[in-house]
Amino acid sequence: MPELSFESRFTNRFELRPFQKRDVEPLYEAVMVSIPELSQFLPWASRAYGRIDSTRFTRDSIRAFREQRAFDFAIRHRDEPRRHIGNVSIWFVSRGFRSGEVGYWVRSDESRTGIATEVAARMVQVGFEELRMHRIILRIAVGNHPSERVAEKLGFTREGILREELEVHGKWLDHTAYSLLEHEYAAKKEAIQALVGSTLSDLPREDSPIDG
Ligand SMILES: CC(C)(COP(=O)(O)OP(=O)(O)OC[C@H]1O[C@@H](n2cnc3c(N)ncnc32)[C@H](O)[C@@H]1OP(=O)(O)O)[C@@H](O)C(=O)NCCC(=O)NCCS
Repeated sequence: MPELSFESRFTNRFELRPFQKRDVEPLYEAVMVSIPELSQFLPWASRAYGRIDSTRFTRDSIRAFREQRAFDFAIRHRDEPRRHIGNVSIWFVSRGFRSGEVGYWVRSDESRTGIATEVAARMVQVGFEELRMHRIILRIAVGNHPSERVAEKLGFTREGILREELEVHGKWLDHTAYSLLEHEYAAKKEAIQALVGSTLSDLPREDSPIDG
C-alpha cells in the first residue's frame, strides 16, 4: 500500500502542511473566529471548544499521519505561515477497496475566495496520484450550499442522500454523498490541476515538522 510522506503539498496560493505541535494556538484562534459557521455542520465545533480540543486534535493528527491512518493538513498562505486558514484532510474509508474520503473547513473571515475549492482539488490529486485511491467521496450536509458548490466544481457526481448520517449538536442531519472515480479523475485531471494552480514551492522549509 502506498505511504504518504510527512511533508507539505502546495497549491497556487497555499501550503498544506501536516500538523506540528506549534499549530495548537493558531488552530484554536481560527476555530474561535469561525464557530457560528463551523458549528452548523461539524459536530466538534461548539462554543465549548477550548485549547484542550485544539491540543488533542493536533496531537492525534500527528500520530494518525505517522501511522498512515488519516492525513490532516493545516492550510497556510504561502507568505503567511503562522495564520491558520483551515484544515483539509484525506483518509481511507477502506484500504482494501482503495476508497477514501476528503473533508475540509475554512476560517470564516477568509471564506468565499475559492480556498476550499483549491485545497480540496489538491487533496483529490493526493488521493488518486499518491494514495492510489479508486474512489473518493465527499459527504455534505443537505443545505450546505458552499460545500455543494465545491463538490460540483471538482467534478464530483451526486450519488444520493444518506439519511440522518451525522448528529450535529442534537440534530440528525441528512447528507448528500458525492463521489469521483479513478477513471473520471483521469479524464478531469487538467481541470483539477487548473483549480490547484502552480504547486511549486519557493518557500524555505520550516524546521522539524514533528517537534516544532
Ligand atoms: C464550506 C466551506 C469549506 C467553503 O469554503 P470556501 O473557501 O468559502 O469555499 P470556496 O470559496 O471555494 O467557495 C465555494 C462556493 O461556495 C460559495 N460560498 C462560499 N461561502 C458562501 C456563503 N457563505 N454563502 C453563499 N455561498 C458561499 C462560493 O461563492 C463558491 O461558489 P461559486 O463558485 O458558485 O461562487 C466553508 O464555508 C466552511 O468551512 N464551512 C463550515 C464547515 C463546512 O461546512 N465544511 C465542509 C463540510 S462538508
